[in-house]
Amino acid sequence: MRITTRHFIKTSGLFAAALLLAACGKKEPPPPAPAAAAPAPAAAPAPPPAKVYVVGTDAAYAPFESQNEKGEIVGFTIDVVNAAAAKAGIQVKFVNTPWEGIFNALGQGDRDMIASSVTITDERKQTMDFTNPYFDAVQLIAVKENSKLAKFADLKKAKVGVQTGTTGDEAVTKLLGKTSTNIKRFESTPLALKELEAGGVDAVVADNGVVIHYVANNPGGKFKMVSDKEFVPEQYGFAVKKGNAELLGKMNEGIAGIKADGSYNTIFKKHFGVEPAAPMAAAAPAPAASK
Ligand code: ARG
Repeated sequence: MRITTRHFIKTSGLFAAALLLAACGKKEPPPPAPAAAAPAPAAAPAPPPAKVYVVGTDAAYAPFESQNEKGEIVGFTIDVVNAAAAKAGIQVKFVNTPWEGIFNALGQGDRDMIASSVTITDERKQTMDFTNPYFDAVQLIAVKENSKLAKFADLKKAKVGVQTGTTGDEAVTKLLGKTSTNIKRFESTPLALKELEAGGVDAVVADNGVVIHYVANNPGGKFKMVSDKEFVPEQYGFAVKKGNAELLGKMNEGIAGIKADGSYNTIFKKHFGVEPAAPMAAAAPAPAASK
C-alpha cells in the first residue's frame, strides 16, 4: 500500500491518540475540579527579564581582550567569562571601558564586573572583591633588538613606557621613583609599545602575555624581550563591587565548573597554543638571557 503523507499523519495521529487513551485508562480518574470557593491563584506575572550583568573591559589588550574587525569584543578573558557565566546560569554583556576609570565605573555601579586582565593585588582588594584567579602572569620587558638593557635594574637610567595604573606602572614607579620624569605613561599598552618602536622610550614593562603577542605580531618593530626573576608572579581575577557576594559566588562557581569539565583548558589552548600547566614563555621566542 502506498502511504501518503496525509494518510501517515492521520494514522499516526490516531495511533498517538490511542496510546494516550490507553495510558489514561490505567490512571485514577482525574481529581475533581477545585471547589469554586478556593480562589484560583492569581496568574503569575510574567517573570522579570533575567538580569544581564554589565562587564567592563579595556579591549586594547590582545590576546586577552580586544576588538576584532567587526568591532566585537573578543579574546581569552572574554571566552573565560562567557563560559563561566554560562556554567553558572547568568547572562553577561561586555562594554568597552577605558582602563583609566575602569575601577571607578565599578565603584559607581556603571559596571557589575571588570574582566580586563586585572591583577589581584592587596591594594585593589581594599576597594573591590576578586573572584578566584583565572590566569597566571608576570611582567616582561620589551626593548629594541640592539638594546643593551638586559635586566630590570638596568631600566633605572632608561626612559620606560607603561600603561597608566597597571602593575607594570607600579613596578617601574618603584624602581625609578615616584617623581621620575623618565616614566612615560600611556593610555594603553599597545600605545606604549608603539612608542618603543618609534624610539620615544627605551623599554616597556607590561604583562607577559600582551608583550609576547605584540612582539610576535609586529616583527617589523625589531623588539626583543627580557624577563627578570625580580618580577613577582601575578594572577588575574574578575573584580566585582565590594560586597557583591551574589555575582562573586556565581562567577567562582562558573570558574570552578569550567576548570573541572575541561572547557577552561580548551579555551586556554585556543588562545595560547599550549596547556595551562606549561609556562607562557614556552609559547614565545626565548627571552634574551640576562648576561
Ligand atoms: N594586569 C595588569 C594590571 O592589572 C594590566 C591589566 C591591563 N588590562 C587592560 N585590559 N588594559 O594592572
